[in-house]
Amino acid sequence: MASPKIFVTRLIPDAGLNLLKEAYPNSQNLEIWLQEDPPTREQLLQYVRGAEGLLCLLTERVDAELLDAIGPSLKVVSSMSVGMDHIDLPEATRRGIPVGNTPGVLTAATADQAFALLLSAARRIPEAERFVRAGKWVTWSPSLLLGADFVGRTLGIVGFGRIGQAVAKRAQGFDMRVLYHDRSSEPAHGAQPVELDALLAESDFVSIHVPLTQGTQHMVDADFLSRMKSNAVLVNTSRGGVVDQDALYVALKSKRIFAAALDVTDPEPLPADSPLLELENCIVVPHLGSASKWTRDQMSLLAVQNLIAGLKGERLPHCANPDVYPA
Ligand code: GLV
Repeated sequence: MASPKIFVTRLIPDAGLNLLKEAYPNSQNLEIWLQEDPPTREQLLQYVRGAEGLLCLLTERVDAELLDAIGPSLKVVSSMSVGMDHIDLPEATRRGIPVGNTPGVLTAATADQAFALLLSAARRIPEAERFVRAGKWVTWSPSLLLGADFVGRTLGIVGFGRIGQAVAKRAQGFDMRVLYHDRSSEPAHGAQPVELDALLAESDFVSIHVPLTQGTQHMVDADFLSRMKSNAVLVNTSRGGVVDQDALYVALKSKRIFAAALDVTDPEPLPADSPLLELENCIVVPHLGSASKWTRDQMSLLAVQNLIAGLKGERLPHCANPDVYPA
């Protein structure tokens, strides 16, 4: 039997790659984009033609145009990500194409990253490190680079899914009070459900864990920021589009809030001349929430397991559009 045509949009970790090569040992039809930069849209539209399986990352927009370019051969799309905002799921479902994602395995790493950013912004670690490198460290001083405390302070978590809950669990270790806003999640790890207004009014730290949807696009806008405490730190490890960056710039520049730490931006990469990068009280890192070795290995394994299942016509172990299957 001829092996299926598969296009993989970037070199993925060996864990997943080896599984793929074991499943299709002699595949002449396995094409992997080996360059560090992602394929351009034009290259993508060209390379995917006739594929039965597409393994992509969050950098590829999978929409009607791309699905048309692939053509009727397509059996499965598998993304090595938990977030699905780059994929038009209703369109894939309409065409009967199951779409896989990689939930669960990146929960701890992403919560760790949110907490690392929270600590870094609150204790001004990047600013302090720049200070030392610039040769400005003259003496120990009682008032040098003072940051925020954690014990007894309030952390507000917006979006209380797996990752939000894992952040709450970490906050328990820091003796923090934890509030959350998410109408569809039960309390966990001592966190108390509240309305968004109360969360913003009471929180010293606000961590964002909602997916990017039409409803959450620019959810963190000038009004949201104006309702936060003036000592508050904002952390975003979800998607850049959830934050209105112009409004955030104004809030940080005017010290309306104390600091922000962004793992994600809109666009990505954030242009080097972004005004956010001029601010001492803003940390930006390049979308590293799941960037640990074990986590990326597991994500690649899940992505390949989804791909293989779809190519065999089996139900995907992690399907982001289960409506594609008959009830
Ligand atoms: C990372 O942001 C992911 O969605 O996996």
